[in-house]
Amino acid sequence: MTTTTRSKSTPTLSLYQLLDPEVLANPYPLYQRLRTEAPVYWDPYLHAWVVTRYADVITVLHHFSANRTPSPEQLAAIGLAELAPLAQVMVKQMLFMDAPDHTRLRGLASTAFTPARVEALRSHIREILDDLLAPVLAAGRMDVIADLAAPLPAIVTAEMMGVPTSDADQLKEWSADFAEVLGNFQHNPDRAARTLKCVEEMTSYFRDAIQSQRGQPRDGLINALLTAEIDGDRLTEEEIIANCIVTMVGGQETTTNLIGNGMLTLLRHPNELERLRNDLTLIPSAVEELLRYESPSQHTARICPEDTELGGQKIRKGQAVIAVMGAGNRDPERFHDPDRLDLGRPDNRHLAFGWASHFCFGAPLARMEGQLVFAAIARRMSNLKLEPGPIVWRDNLGLRGLTSLPVTFDEAKPTGPNPAPIAHTENGCPFHGSA
Ligand code: HEM
Repeated sequence: MTTTTRSKSTPTLSLYQLLDPEVLANPYPLYQRLRTEAPVYWDPYLHAWVVTRYADVITVLHHFSANRTPSPEQLAAIGLAELAPLAQVMVKQMLFMDAPDHTRLRGLASTAFTPARVEALRSHIREILDDLLAPVLAAGRMDVIADLAAPLPAIVTAEMMGVPTSDADQLKEWSADFAEVLGNFQHNPDRAARTLKCVEEMTSYFRDAIQSQRGQPRDGLINALLTAEIDGDRLTEEEIIANCIVTMVGGQETTTNLIGNGMLTLLRHPNELERLRNDLTLIPSAVEELLRYESPSQHTARICPEDTELGGQKIRKGQAVIAVMGAGNRDPERFHDPDRLDLGRPDNRHLAFGWASHFCFGAPLARMEGQLVFAAIARRMSNLKLEPGPIVWRDNLGLRGLTSLPVTFDEAKPTGPNPAPIAHTENGCPFHGSA
């Protein structure tokens, strides 16, 4: 049960329309109307401004405040005191901070998540992928989500963090629960109880892991965060726990969605899939285009730091703003023929990983996973077909992904070497440069 439901009088441009499964399945006509009719739109249902043009999304992500988590006291004042433990964790996560706190935390965390560490995961990811694909290649069918898109990032996340891969199922479960809070607008009391339980369990899991790694360090993010130090400054245990949680969740749901949405998009564009199969050097640009075309994370929120004019509207200090990256990524002012999938699209500086100081911390890892997965699919599966049945999108308005995606295929003999890896910079790739 949700406390707020869409009524008949919902204004036609409200993002609340995403609660309608038809709009959720294809939000792009709604985004197009927003961009052309009201690019900076006051959504009375969300009580927030909704920003949909590429340039305006960048302005918001660049200049507005990410400090948007209510404090435990504010929650108590609006009758949601039971959510305080959740807020206590979120206020320590880099995603919800501004400079200088954000700069400090991200700086320390970055020393733990270097390009070399990410690169070291490449051969592990190949092995994990081979293990997951072996049974489905033999069967000639798979549910892309259950067999590949969900378990791969879960196992990679366990490896990345330095916890046993046998915990991957548990990490996946927690991440799916926590993602409900990150992705949805509406407060749901039933969901809140589950989320609170999950925060409690994750906190005690990471506290135990930290404890055991103090004595017996394992290679991975937890130990790297434990030892990260800049000019004598170290992370506290609570900061390590909070940021392990955000990295663990950030690394899973979105990557699952990249694989699932990307696969569906390729199935819907068989000529582009064929083009990819015939030219594997397109893999890096194909992953960027799949990220642009069906962005795994559709929107994020900010708070207006001072009275501001944007798109002819006056936004007041303290008002909430939703930056819809999924809409900016289809803006014809920025992308030529934006509703066309072009796996070789040049100048594809999309917004799928956000922009500026909060640009996705895990983008190099996500790109590596995406490239390895789509290369494996293009090389090792032919005659790919969607099994008949409805396509069901997850009940999550911000994290866009599928509940399942059953396909059949023939096993193909891999031809040619794996495509060369793409070089990454901290904030982007050769397509993007630095955001
Ligand atoms: C396709 C996969 C991914 C997508 C689409 C994605 C998307 C995003 C976006 C849009 C943001 C910025 C949010 C904002 O500005 O409010 C972000 C931030 C973040 N992402 Fe990702 N992400 C992905 C994979 C990953 C992975 C694999 C990790 C972990 C290794 C990760 C960890 C994070 C963290 C920790 C932040 C917060 C950064 C900060 O606040 O400075 N993400 N991600």
